[in-house]
This record gives sequence, structure tokens and C-alpha cells, in this order.
Amino acid sequence: MAMAMIDPGDYVLVPDPGYPIYEHGVMIAGGSIYPMPLLEENGYLPKLSEIPVEVLHKTKMMIISYPGNPVTALASKESFEEVVEFAKKYNILVIHDFAYSELIYDGNPQISFMSVTGAKEVGIEFNSLSKTFNMAGCRIGYAVGNEEALRILASFKSNIDYGVFYPIQMAAVTALTSDYNVLREQVKEYEKRRDVLIAGLEKGGWKVAKSPATMFVWAKIPSGWTSRQFAFKLIEKAGVAVVPGDAFGTQGEGYVRMALVQSPERLVKAAEKIQNFLQEAAVVTKE
Ligand SMILES: Cc1ncc(COP(=O)(O)O)c(C=O)c1O
Repeated sequence: MAMAMIDPGDYVLVPDPGYPIYEHGVMIAGGSIYPMPLLEENGYLPKLSEIPVEVLHKTKMMIISYPGNPVTALASKESFEEVVEFAKKYNILVIHDFAYSELIYDGNPQISFMSVTGAKEVGIEFNSLSKTFNMAGCRIGYAVGNEEALRILASFKSNIDYGVFYPIQMAAVTALTSDYNVLREQVKEYEKRRDVLIAGLEKGGWKVAKSPATMFVWAKIPSGWTSRQFAFKLIEKAGVAVVPGDAFGTQGEGYVRMALVQSPERLVKAAEKIQNFLQEAAVVTKE
């Protein structure tokens, strides 16, 4: 979308922390980014009123993702409505990445940006079959929303790759028309993984916020470490891999991202290793 829409001198508002490709896509297109801090105290929503007006006058696009990666927060309908108003006021195209639309837990509402009045005038929503249907690598997804933006995207995309390998299209059709009970089972499995990991970390004295959605845990690290120090020591001493939060933007410092991509049994073991690591680290700190 950035390649189709953005020219040098144009700004794109991107979430910080956010999925790195948002920023990289804009850079490849020769545009400039303006990071929108997503802070815990603001419910991980951007403070739109704090973005300088000079930047907004040069802004063509804004990227948001609820629930997202690495920040797993959900947006309310009201916050999406605020985005629509803001986009209308400054003539900004909103891109909502809804890749985790189906991985929502604890009965939380599943809110598409497109369900908000006026969203179709100002934005498009992307989704992917990678997460929901375990089709990562198949490169199949969809975009819905503003007709003109979709026309520009389709026109650009048809010049770099045309269509998707037919068997993958058929697999996607089967997935989208399948019995969604399979999805409910999958959501339960991820929910279980989240619960065992968080319970295990809590046993070790590390209280981590419960993700309302996605296949990630966005964890504030114990004080006395940078994200990178913590992640590197953890892999070295405990053999557990996490991603340092600053890999997703400067506001990710002080956090690490854990992925729920192992069985509950393995996550219990990982949590035990982290518990031991934290205990030993505490001894070293005291000494
Ligand atoms: C927020 C988010 N959007 C998009 C993607 C990419 O999906 P796809 O496999 O369709 O490129 C990911 C994958 O990690 C993601 O986390």
C-alpha cells in the first residue's frame, strides 16, 4: 500500500511499538514515518491530539492494528470512531491491519474497523489467512474498504505479481467456507497457552498482563534490565527465546514479546526455566 500511495515527502503515522513492516514498507517507498507512541497508560491507543499539525498536513496514511503485534490490546468502537473523525479532518487514509481478527479471548468483542460508521470513506482493512487458518507462507489475504484505495492497490499489485497459485486459492476458499468450530477450538488452545505461560511466570514472581487477544504476550520486564540485556541473557542462561521490545520501536523498550507458538506443556517448561533464571538473576543482583 505504501508503494502504491506514498511519495518522498509524504508522512505515514505508524504505531510504536508496531509490526516492523509498517515502518519498513514506508521507508522502501521513500516516505517518512511519524511514530505514534502506544502506551499502557493510554490503553495502548495513540494520542491523536498530540501529533503536530505540521506533520498532519504532510500525512497521507496512518496504520493501526487492534489487536496487534506486539501490542495485543483491543480498540473500542468509540476509539475507532475517533480515528474516522481524525482521518476525515486531515484527509488521511487509514489502514487497519486485522490479522488477529479471530484470536480474541475471554469473550472480548471482535471489532472490525469497517464496522464503524464512515470507516469505508476513510480507510481499508487488511486481513490474512496466515494466522487464523495457519496458512503462513501461503501469501493470501484480503483488503476491504474504500473503493478508490483498493483500486490503487489492485492496480499496483497487478504489476508486481498477478494472482495467487490456484491450489492456494482453493485452500483459502475451503478455509473461509469451513466449519468455524475448528477456529473455536484453536482459540481455546491459544487461550490455554497464554494462561499456562502467565501462571508459570507469576509463580516465579513475574506478574505479566493477560493478553486479551493474539498469539503474543507483551510483558513488562523486571526493573534493572534493558529489553536487549534481558532477552540475550534469557536465551543464554535459560534457553528461552523472546523478542526484545525495542525491536518494534523505541516505545517497546522495557518490554519483551513472547510468542504462544508452542504446546502448553512446552510453555510450562519455558516458564519454569524463566522462573529459575529470575531467581538466579536476583541472587546475582543482590551480590
Ligand atoms: C500484525 C501483523 N500483520 C500482518 C502479518 C503478516 O501476515 P502475512 O503472513 O499475511 O504477511 C503479521 C505476521 O506476523 C502480523 O503480526
